[in-house]
Amino acid sequence: MNYANKTILTGVKPTGTLHIGNYVGAIRPAIELGHQVNQSGRHVMFVADYHAVNAIKDAPLLAQLTKEIACAYLACGLNPNHSVFYRQSDVPELFELTTILMAYTPKGFMNKAHAYKAAVDKNIAKGEPQDAGINMGLYTYPVLMAADILAYDTDMVPVGKDQVQHVEIAADIAGSINALYDKEVLKIPTSFLTESAQVLPGTDGRKMSKSYNNVIPLFAEDNVLKKAVMGIKTDCQDINAPKNPDEILLYQIARGIAPENVVGEIKEGLEKGGMGYGTIKKMILQAITDEMAEKREKYMYYLSHFDEVEDMLQAGAVKARALAHPVLERVKDAIFNR
Ligand code: ADP
Ligand code: TRP
Repeated sequence: MNYANKTILTGVKPTGTLHIGNYVGAIRPAIELGHQVNQSGRHVMFVADYHAVNAIKDAPLLAQLTKEIACAYLACGLNPNHSVFYRQSDVPELFELTTILMAYTPKGFMNKAHAYKAAVDKNIAKGEPQDAGINMGLYTYPVLMAADILAYDTDMVPVGKDQVQHVEIAADIAGSINALYDKEVLKIPTSFLTESAQVLPGTDGRKMSKSYNNVIPLFAEDNVLKKAVMGIKTDCQDINAPKNPDEILLYQIARGIAPENVVGEIKEGLEKGGMGYGTIKKMILQAITDEMAEKREKYMYYLSHFDEVEDMLQAGAVKARALAHPVLERVKDAIFNR
């Protein structure tokens, strides 16, 4: 894609301890994209801590998860000098813009929004009143997300399928403001699907997810990592039987994380027969260790020197505020006829 003069923005919600699925599906692609964009455009990447407050009221936990996400991105190669990297709660312009956008957001949009509907469906499935436990933060989630996006004249937002609708809501709100005042007050963003990001299965074969207790943690110590990898579910086919690799969970996991030559070796071993599951687990463990060892060291360093990370986040917030301020002024000029 051509990113010349384009602003690309990604937000990450700090709601759980990271696993290998988050790494291959979200962290690695976001950082790679950042490197591509930075050559010709602007890359904005932030920790969406106010979005997380809707779900997490345990303050020390939220602080810890926010730290972990920030350190993980830096450890995995995000360059804070090239990307605008900050904590959402450090940019007050976003919340002023949110208040403005509220007045232009039809309530019906919120009733149909994905995050809210998913919460309602969960309640209904449990036989509870449909709005049980749902706060206004979750209900109006897409308005804050629209402010996140619109505050920097963002052109493109790389997202997973579940977030496309939220970006469309941002585009709709911006479009109606532009129509009302008959000028381009806000830039209309578009989403693009991060389809290349594969879904990594967990140790039980379902999607790897913190909700399923089937994760291989991202920065775990060797013994914890080993236990998780050795616990990957296997079948009881004869070791010598030729197998279809696509039907073997170990192979699907290896494909997500191991280098091509190792994946090739496993594929051949399964197709021919004779390669045991224990051997494959050892190869996967080695691949994860090779991929993560240096990153884990950096991650541990950043976690224990968080004051350095805090400085980077603060410097990022200064950059973000400088970008958001003129956009906010432009909106206020339009709506108050200043
Ligand atoms: P979880 O499913 O563990 O709750 P989240 O929903 O918080 O994870 O996802 C955070 C990010 O990581 C999202 O961008 C999501 O697409 C990605 N992600 C989560 N699990 C996987 C997986 N198993 N494979 C690929 N990407 C994943
Ligand atoms: N809603 C996104 C998620 O749940 C996180 C997010 C918040 C975001 N603001 C954003 C993503 C702006 C892209 C753009 O994953």
